Parts: sequence; structure tokens; C-alpha cells
Amino acid sequence: MPDIRYNGRAYPLSDGQSVLECLIEHGVSVPFGCRSGVCQACLMRAETGHPPEASQKGLKPALADRNYFLACVCNPRESISVSLPCREGTRTPASIVGMELLSSEIMYVSLQPHELIEYRAGQFINLYQAENLARSYSVASLPTEDPYIHIHVRRVPEGRVSNWVHDALRPGDTVDIQGPNGDCYYQAGSPEQSLLLIGTGSGLAPLYGIIRDALAQGHTGPIRLFHGSRTPNGLYLTDRLRELTQTYSNFDYTPCLSGEPVLKGYARGRVHEIALSKLSDLKEWRVFLCGHPEMVKNAQKKAFLAGASLKDITCDAFTSHATFR
Ligand SMILES: Cc1cc2nc3c(=O)[nH]c(=O)nc-3n(C[C@H](O)[C@H](O)[C@H](O)COP(=O)(O)OP(=O)(O)OC[C@H]3O[C@@H](n4cnc5c(N)ncnc54)[C@H](O)[C@@H]3O)c2cc1C
Ligand code: FES
Repeated sequence: MPDIRYNGRAYPLSDGQSVLECLIEHGVSVPFGCRSGVCQACLMRAETGHPPEASQKGLKPALADRNYFLACVCNPRESISVSLPCREGTRTPASIVGMELLSSEIMYVSLQPHELIEYRAGQFINLYQAENLARSYSVASLPTEDPYIHIHVRRVPEGRVSNWVHDALRPGDTVDIQGPNGDCYYQAGSPEQSLLLIGTGSGLAPLYGIIRDALAQGHTGPIRLFHGSRTPNGLYLTDRLRELTQTYSNFDYTPCLSGEPVLKGYARGRVHEIALSKLSDLKEWRVFLCGHPEMVKNAQKKAFLAGASLKDITCDAFTSHATFR
């Protein structure tokens, strides 16, 4: 049975167990977030032995070359010695410069990184509440609009980091962030391509960034946004998005509510079902799906069946602990 060696101790790895699961099972405190190979909060380095290729998927080549890997999706067949990356190389301090409730459950947070961070609207950063506690938040801002990174944080019942953001974090505080990560962003080069964007709740954050990035870069093809929630509290920035439809004739916005009450001006039903019932032929379309993992999974399947090519469908499932219940 292979061992995971960390901080001078060896921990036996059970069959099929990831490095992260093994360390957690033995009471070792290491950072993690999504537990599905997306957020990169569980980044570790193999000091000896080689991490499997699958555990380096999505890492920058410079990190993969130096034997970094994602502990949550690392199932080594041989013993390896692992360490945490040095803090300085991977995290950046950032000051909180603004906070505002966009709805009763969504907090807008503006962060000023202490070092230049090059990012694209729609990518995500990891926000650290404590040394080993991080969560991912998508970037709603454009690097050209101001020097700050804007995120939208939905309050999750009993969620550790989202409730800390809403209740304890304040302008003037300094936090650590890591990133940017992910490939959910607008790619210039096909300005006439039709774009479909579907999001639930705070899944609007990356889409809000992508739409404004596309418009700023002169996208001329149709841009169709469907934003859904069960209750009106989950929808936000509705006035700003409606204003945007007045400014740009190629931008269209449909807010959707799946629960009660039925309100005027809102489509009724599940957001991806509404979107796909209106747009049944997605051949040549580019599709962005962000938010609840179940919606993302179902919408991806439906978009593919409607003719969108898999390479043109970009998904950001907001995976959390709840996904692992
Ligand atoms: C790529 C990506 C981008 C994201 N972007 C955004 C964004 O822009 N905005 C946003 O609001 N969110 C975003 N998320 C989600 C975000 O990262 C967090 O998952 C979310 O804020 C909840 O974190 P939390 O610490 O508040 O909740 P957690 O403490 O992680 O808890 C989440 C839920 O799981 C339950 N839970 C906690 N621990 C356990 C356990 N051991 N067993 C069973 N259940 C448990 C809790 O009760 C709660 O209901 C994104 C996620 C990913 C992966
Ligand atoms: S990538 Fe491993 S915890 Fe998110």
C-alpha cells in the first residue's frame, strides 16, 4: 500500500483514495475547496515521486513542470512525499475596497490586489478566509474598467466562507487571494458568432463580466442571457442588464423564476429549459453555463443535443461541499 509522506510523517493511502482524502482522514489540515479538480485550492507539490498526469490537468505548465498537482484528484500508485506550495509564490494579498448588497443574498465585493494580477472577466479567484480555508469566486469585472477585482458572493445557508464574507469581512480588511484560474471567458476572433449565456444565482457574476467584455470588444453577433433563480432574491442587477439591452441592440436578457410568485416581466420555469425552448438550434453557437452544478450538467447535455459543439460549450459549475453529501 503506497504512503503519502507529509511534514515528516507517513500516511497509508487506501484503495482509490486521493491524496487530499488521505490527509483529511488522518486529521491533517490542508487547504481545499471544490474537491473536484476545478478550484486549485488544494495545490501541492511532489517532492519525490511523480504525480499522475490527471492530477495536473488545468495547471499552468510552469507549475506542472515543477511537480505541482491537485491533491483532490491525485490517486498515486506509488508512495510520494508532498508539501504545500510556498505562500509567497501562489497567493497575493488584496485590500477590500468596496462592498454592497446587490440583493438580500448576493454581496458585491471589490478587491484591490497588492500586486498586478492579469485576468480575464469570467475567470475565478480563490479567496482565503484562513490559512487552509479557501473558496472560489468568479470575476465579474473587466481589467480595463478599474484596478479592482469584483466578485459576487451568494450567502449559502451554513456556508463557512460565504457567511464570513457577508457578516465579518469589511472594507479596509486585507485577505489572501490566488488566481486567476479557469477558461470561462470571452474569446475574441469571431465577433459575429451567436452567444448563449445561462446562469443561476451568483452564476451571473462570470456572465456579467463576459457579456460586457464581448460588447467592449465590439461583438456584433446576438448575445442572449438567461438568468434564473427560484425566488426574486436570487436575481440581481436586473435594472443594469435591462439598461444594457437598451444600449446594445444585439444583447437580450431574460430573467427567469422557477418558484412562486409569478412576477410580471419574468419568464416562468427552469432557466435552461426556458433558454433551450426558445433557442432550439445551437449549431455554431458559443455557450456559457455557470452556477448550480445540476443546471450546468443538464444544460450542457441539452445544448449539445441542440447542435452546439462540445468545444464551444464552456461550463463553470459552482461545486461546493453540498455536492459531496
Ligand atoms: C469555479 C467556481 C466558481 C465559483 N464562483 C462563485 C461565485 O462567483 N459566487 C458564489 O457565490 N459562489 C461561487 N462558487 C461557489 C463557492 O466557491 C463556494 O462553494 C460557496 O460560496 C459556498 O462556500 P461556503 O464556504 O460558504 O460553504 P461551505 O462551508 O463550503 O458549505 C456549502 C454547503 O455544504 C454544506 N456542508 C459543509 N460542509 C459539509 C460536509 N462536511 N458535509 C456535508 N455538507 C457540508 C453546508 O451546510 C452548505 O450548505 C464557485 C465555485 C467554483 C468551483
Ligand atoms: S481543485 Fe482540489 S479542492 Fe478544488
